[in-house]
Amino acid sequence: MEEWIWINGQTMPLASASVSIEDRGFQFADGVYEVIRLYHGQPFTLPQHLQRLQRSAAGIELDVPLPESELSAAIEKLVDQSGLDDGMIYLQLTRGYQRRNHVWNSDLPATLLFYTRALPALAAPGKAPGVKLHPVADERWLRCWVKSIALLPNVLAKNAAVRAGADEAVFIGQQEQLSECSASNLFAVVDGVLVTAPVGPRVLPGVTRLVLLELAQQLGIAVRQQVLTQDQALKADELFITSTTRELSWVSHWGNRQLFTKCGATTLRLHQAFRQRVRHELRPIPVRLTA
Ligand code: PDD
Repeated sequence: MEEWIWINGQTMPLASASVSIEDRGFQFADGVYEVIRLYHGQPFTLPQHLQRLQRSAAGIELDVPLPESELSAAIEKLVDQSGLDDGMIYLQLTRGYQRRNHVWNSDLPATLLFYTRALPALAAPGKAPGVKLHPVADERWLRCWVKSIALLPNVLAKNAAVRAGADEAVFIGQQEQLSECSASNLFAVVDGVLVTAPVGPRVLPGVTRLVLLELAQQLGIAVRQQVLTQDQALKADELFITSTTRELSWVSHWGNRQLFTKCGATTLRLHQAFRQRVRHELRPIPVRLTA
């Protein structure tokens, strides 16, 4: 299926789009991004993603060039045009292009783009194999709440994890404090309480995380936003990670240690509630008649 891009107001096949060599995103990683899930050709939690985009852009002193309603309509239009059912939108906003200079021109038109991509369907809750986490020192900056395209520390951590035979890197800070993972948030279930680090300097406000905290409340599961140490995580009753592209994944291994052999009951319950929320938010899906 052809991938489509909207770039600065124009729509075209992804393969024919280009940006300047001197785009500040390319030279300085001077930009922010979003990844939005599509279920049955509809963006999930689009307002929450666009609000985070707004906060991330403000966090690097950048304006989103379109009002949220226009951006939202343009995204929906591109998704319709692409004919894509299950997949994602990758959106990127950079400060635009100018002659290379650390100091930006204040009147620079930003580069805004988003494109569609198909994703394989996810396994039913509890059915996928558990993920293996690989601990890596957290050497990132202190504005991880900004969804910055400057992802090199995350990229290095994830590659170290994969080289070690794991799936995802978990960041460990001072005093073995856990923040999040290289592309996901971390949750633990401890004595029936759902525990996750508060968002802030070292933790991205994940949209999946946000949805889960709401669902936990609806299900009557107590929540504590608290930083866990590695030792506490290793003693947790359940561990799982969340992101737009993976939903919830239960953790089986931590480094070389196998912690769990199956998805825990609370994780499963939350994942089922998450799927229900997705179904609930979808507009009725039109029946496609075939000749
Ligand atoms: N990453 N923390 C980090 C560092 C992330 O990169 C992500 C998502 C998350 C989860 O956020 P959300 O639930 O909003 O997807 C947490 C995306 C999927 C990516 O970079 O591809």
